[in-house]
Amino acid sequence: MSKTENKKQEEEEESSTTTNTMAWPDIEEELVIPELLHSEGVKKLHMSIQNEWDYLQKSACQTAAGRALWKHVIHDPLAHLFAGETHLRNLHTKIQRDRLNNAREVSGVILAVRTLWFDTRIQAALDSFDNDATQVVLLGAGMDARSYRLNCLNKSDVFEVDFPDVLQTKTSLVQAAVSSREELKMTAKSLIDVATDIRDKDWFENLKKSGFVPEINTVWVLEGILYYLSHTEAMQVLNLIAEKCKVTSTVLLADFMNKPSASLPNSVFHFYSDWPDQLLPSLGFSHVKLSQIGDPDANFGLLHNPLNLFNKLLRLPRTAQIHPDDGTPCCRLYLVEASGSPPPDKSITNNVSL
Ligand SMILES: C[S@@+](CC[C@H](N)C(=O)[O-])C[C@H]1O[C@@H](n2cnc3c(N)ncnc32)[C@H](O)[C@@H]1O
Repeated sequence: MSKTENKKQEEEEESSTTTNTMAWPDIEEELVIPELLHSEGVKKLHMSIQNEWDYLQKSACQTAAGRALWKHVIHDPLAHLFAGETHLRNLHTKIQRDRLNNAREVSGVILAVRTLWFDTRIQAALDSFDNDATQVVLLGAGMDARSYRLNCLNKSDVFEVDFPDVLQTKTSLVQAAVSSREELKMTAKSLIDVATDIRDKDWFENLKKSGFVPEINTVWVLEGILYYLSHTEAMQVLNLIAEKCKVTSTVLLADFMNKPSASLPNSVFHFYSDWPDQLLPSLGFSHVKLSQIGDPDANFGLLHNPLNLFNKLLRLPRTAQIHPDDGTPCCRLYLVEASGSPPPDKSITNNVSL
């Protein structure tokens, strides 16, 4: 094949990837709002979310909207109800605009990939434990519905930690779904609300008071939370979890922003780490695996286009802060799994003392 033919084929491949293999969410032209969101009780709950919650709390509904509109890859029976009409409409409009512009990155795709990555890694972590008794702690649980959608949680006590308003409203929304006779089955063994602010010193005491047992194998899920904390607060949380590796088998699943992501103009984010794969071992975790959106274990067939932002970043060294092609900041989101366990003799002692 001549050079020109080669180039032409490359261009054709490029344009076919851009237009055909882009994984668009399967959304309707007109957004269909489920009937339950029109009921008086649910409308009132969402009105108070819109009027009374701050941006931090509202971020819980934004992520639920992502899962609702990427429903062809995430089956979340509560996502529409948790998101509410405003957040569904906002994201729907953005996706429609992306479609019109034939965008390389579709709004919500990061969220979809992140959700699927956490789902996969939670299951793998639970499978890795040699004991049936397990706990899963969702820090900044927001409108996470895993206790109603992941079967792998059927032997786990799930602790959802968030602000009191968020957890109370979530409970009321679930009650509305149940009383509307929507088929809703809890898939977790148990679900315990822990209404506390993880910036406060006593948050871990509150978790224990709610029934959390430090000696039981635990998966800690920190999805979409660390970067809302200050550096000191985030490090306190990470240190506390790392300490637990000395007591029991512990898995931490967390997403980290790098500095350019947290430093964009008008950013609401604070904590970042450019090298979480170095930070976490220094705190006491023994195994750390870092993935980036677009990596083989973090694309779930949703990021075919080689020219999209994530795939372009994968080709650059992680030290790069500015993209050499266009001068834009290299904003990365790291998906990180870290684990640790006490030395074997110590775990025997712990078992005996249980
Ligand atoms: C972006 S949402 C993520 C929710 C959920 N993890 C998910 O991925 O869908 C962040 C959540 O963290 C909660 N949050 C933020 N700061 C918190 C704090 N200091 N203590 C407890 N919860 C907090 C917010 O209320 C919100 O529900």
